[in-house]
Amino acid sequence: MSKHPLILAIETSCDETAVAVAEGTAGILVSEVASQIELHSPYGGVVPELASRNHNITLRPLIETALSKSGLSIEDLDAIAATSGPGLASSLLIGDTTAKAIAVASGKPFYSINHMEGHMLSPFIENETGVLPNISLVVSGGHTMLVKVDRVGGYKILGATLDDAAGEAFDKAGKMMGLPYPGGPEIDRLSANGDPDAFDFPRAMLKSGDFQFSFSGMKTAMSHRIAGLGNKWDSNNEKLVSDLCASFQAAILDVLIGKTIAAVRETGASLVTVSGGVSCNRGLREQMTDACAAAGVKLQLATPSHSTDNAAMIAYAAACRFEAGLPASGFDQDINPNLQLL
Ligand code: KG4
Ligand code: ZN
Repeated sequence: MSKHPLILAIETSCDETAVAVAEGTAGILVSEVASQIELHSPYGGVVPELASRNHNITLRPLIETALSKSGLSIEDLDAIAATSGPGLASSLLIGDTTAKAIAVASGKPFYSINHMEGHMLSPFIENETGVLPNISLVVSGGHTMLVKVDRVGGYKILGATLDDAAGEAFDKAGKMMGLPYPGGPEIDRLSANGDPDAFDFPRAMLKSGDFQFSFSGMKTAMSHRIAGLGNKWDSNNEKLVSDLCASFQAAILDVLIGKTIAAVRETGASLVTVSGGVSCNRGLREQMTDACAAAGVKLQLATPSHSTDNAAMIAYAAACRFEAGLPASGFDQDINPNLQLL
């Protein structure tokens, strides 16, 4: 056994089939992601039954690829991990059952990992310091939350969205503008050439004095802006669409960044981390960098390949637990589509 445990991790909580092998917290040996975006694209969103059936087909060859790329066999591993929630039940079951089967057959310990913990710790992957206390902004398609992280397993949720997640707002707005699915990366790309002051969008709850978010009003605002353009609205007018995207994105970023800096001020934290699919957003990365510098606080962003769903973050979270001596999970540990962080 190497100094660091060799961990095989599987992530199938939504529409990415992903497998990774980590050498404990020291590094990721392999991270394979098979995206199903093309499969779901015609429907404008994830179709759960299609997702689980595709995981079922894709997962086994992906495990074989990950093992062969890492030069390891199942016997070499020290533990097997899988995401147990939150996510789509039928998708979670594929990864969870497969990981348990491998663990039972090989006699290795099994770690059931919370997807949100995976995102939250992902900015520390391949970082020599290990997990440091921080204010964590997790922004994905399903979640938006601010968490005070004291240590691995020591989390306090400061606030979360009361309705839509930030990524969900991006995707719904993208759909309204006729952009390809998912809308987030498209809005990011188009925003670069747009005027963020061209249209007025609400900064919901920015001044609410707490750390809750609300993004459901963004889709209503988008439909009003499009309706307000009347016959000037043309989804092929790149300048117009870019202006709408930039204005929409600016409003979301103002709220995300404003609340994160407020959390820093309230807690006296010295480090901010940002993770989840929306942390790929170039505007968010740039503006959060500036805001943290102005507030005199360090910033650690998840790398883009560890931001959207991946199994490296699940392997890393399992490695943190393994190395901290936290117990493995029982094989009777169920998946939970609504799994909470605490
Ligand atoms: O973390 P993730 O892969 O899956 C969930 O756990 O939900 O996040 C996916 C979300 C989608 O809503 C997608 O539109 C958004 O992340 N996203 C982005 C960008 N890249 C992905 N949103 C804004 N800008 C981006 N560049
Ligand atoms: Zn995710």
